[in-house]
Formats: sequence, C-alpha cells, structure tokens
Amino acid sequence: MLFSNESCRIRTCTVKTAPDHLVRNGDGDELLFVHRGEGAFFCDFGHLDYREGDYLLIPRGTMWRFQPASDTRLLLIESSQASIGLPEKGLLGSHAIFDPAILDTPEIDDLFIRQQTEEQSRVLVKRHNRLTTIAYPFNPLDAIGWKGDLAVCRLNVADIRPVMSHRYHLPPSVHSTFVTDQFVVCTFCPRPMETDPGALKVPFFHSNDDFDELIFYHKGEFFSRDNISPGMLTLHPSGFPHGPHPKALATGQQGDRTTTDEIAVMIDSRDALKVSDEASRVEWEGYVDSWKEV
Ligand SMILES: [Fe+2]
Repeated sequence: MLFSNESCRIRTCTVKTAPDHLVRNGDGDELLFVHRGEGAFFCDFGHLDYREGDYLLIPRGTMWRFQPASDTRLLLIESSQASIGLPEKGLLGSHAIFDPAILDTPEIDDLFIRQQTEEQSRVLVKRHNRLTTIAYPFNPLDAIGWKGDLAVCRLNVADIRPVMSHRYHLPPSVHSTFVTDQFVVCTFCPRPMETDPGALKVPFFHSNDDFDELIFYHKGEFFSRDNISPGMLTLHPSGFPHGPHPKALATGQQGDRTTTDEIAVMIDSRDALKVSDEASRVEWEGYVDSWKEV
C-alpha cells in the first residue's frame, strides 16, 4: 500500500498474467484506473474488455479477475468506508462532465459463458484488511443474468468533456469524476487554455487546507509541473503552500499555449494520507526543491 488512511487505500500494481484466483473485497468499493495495457475483465456481472484510460468502478463484494492481453499497470483506489458514487453536477446539469449513458456495464456474452467451467477455483476474500481463501469445485462466476442498478461500470477518460471558461481558471473540483464522503477523484483532461488577457492560466497558489492532494500522472505533458513523467505520483499534504513550477508559471504568463496536453488523476482526501515505507523507498527527495529557480 503506498498511501492510506481510515477511509481509503491507494496503490499501484502491474498484472502480467492472469492470476490463478478470483478476488472479492468485503472492506469497500474499488476504483481501478488502467494506466497501461488491455485485456478482459470478468466479474459477477459478466465480461467487459478494458484498455488504457479506463476507470473500472467495482462495488464491494463483487468477485472479479483480470485476463490481461498485455502487461497491465493499474492505479487502485479502495474506499473502505463510504461507497464511491458520481458527483452532483449542480448548475452544470446531469450530462456534465460525461453523460451517465456512456458508463458501460459487463455483459453475459459468449466469452463469459465459455469461462464457466467445472474447474476448481479459489477466491481471495478481503475483510478487516485480512485475506481468507474460499475454494469452489467450479468457477463461481456463473451468472446467467442480472438486474438492478448495482454493477461494475467502466468510464474511459476519452469520454470526459472537461468544463472550462475563457475568463476564469476553474477550481479542480469542477473536474470531479467520482466522490465519496471522505475523498474525491478528479480527472484532468486536455482542454483549451483561458484566452482572456486578464485570466489566470495556470493553477493558483494554494495550501489545500481541507484535503491531502495526491496526483497520478497518466499521459501527456504536465504543464504546471516540471520533471514529472507518466507513472509518477505527487503528494501535497494539507497546509503546504504550492502552485505552478517557475517554468510553468513563466510559460503561462507568456500566453503561448492554447491547450493543455495532460491526463492525470487526482485524489483529494479529507483525512491525512499515511505514506508507506514502500512509497518512501521510491521517493524523489528533490521534488520539494523543484520550485527553486535555477
Ligand atoms: Fe494543489
């Protein structure tokens, strides 16, 4: 686990081959973000294919497994208290920032039916952060149908239509994609820059007094941060002032850029995030000095 608190756990992982077991999380909902790779996803609700840029929202208690077609690198976000849901859209209307109809759900298709074998299967069940193994003399992913409004759902970042204003640098909350009572997941997608000469064109300096702010960089050129590459994470704890790096600030003031070219996932957590030893071992300690002019 890289970062955690009472309400969420966040880590990255790579899946190279299909695991020989299923998993079921009894502690909380899971939100997976596919950073790299593609393949098939099987669960209680059927089969769907995944690809780079997909979010997969998995309700607690769902059995599932991956069958990667290529090495799959994931960001995993677990909500161990509140359910993960969609944000209120308020004045923007229910079709902002993505149409709810674009959410895909698994299907009971031929591929799903074909994997329903009588082979012995194991399910690793997580509860109270401990694992228990349940063995079945068959594959328990044997549904033939389902109804209701609870299911795994998939959203690709390409289907997110970011909100912007030509005169006003909107706060990151406008990019909220998934929410719980304790944290919010925002997606930064390519968008036009502000065009009004008086508009702020880069994020304002702030100390995010209400949230710890974790950003996973997925793709593109991260215009407000220097020396950040895809696959990296930054953590800005609550109360520590920060803003654009000096080079980004200068570029923003010159007004040469017309669009952003970045895709990033931000998790803002009300409760302080604990940094694990695993995360500390790969920390780039020079990050804190990266605001110094050179
Ligand atoms: Fe920030």
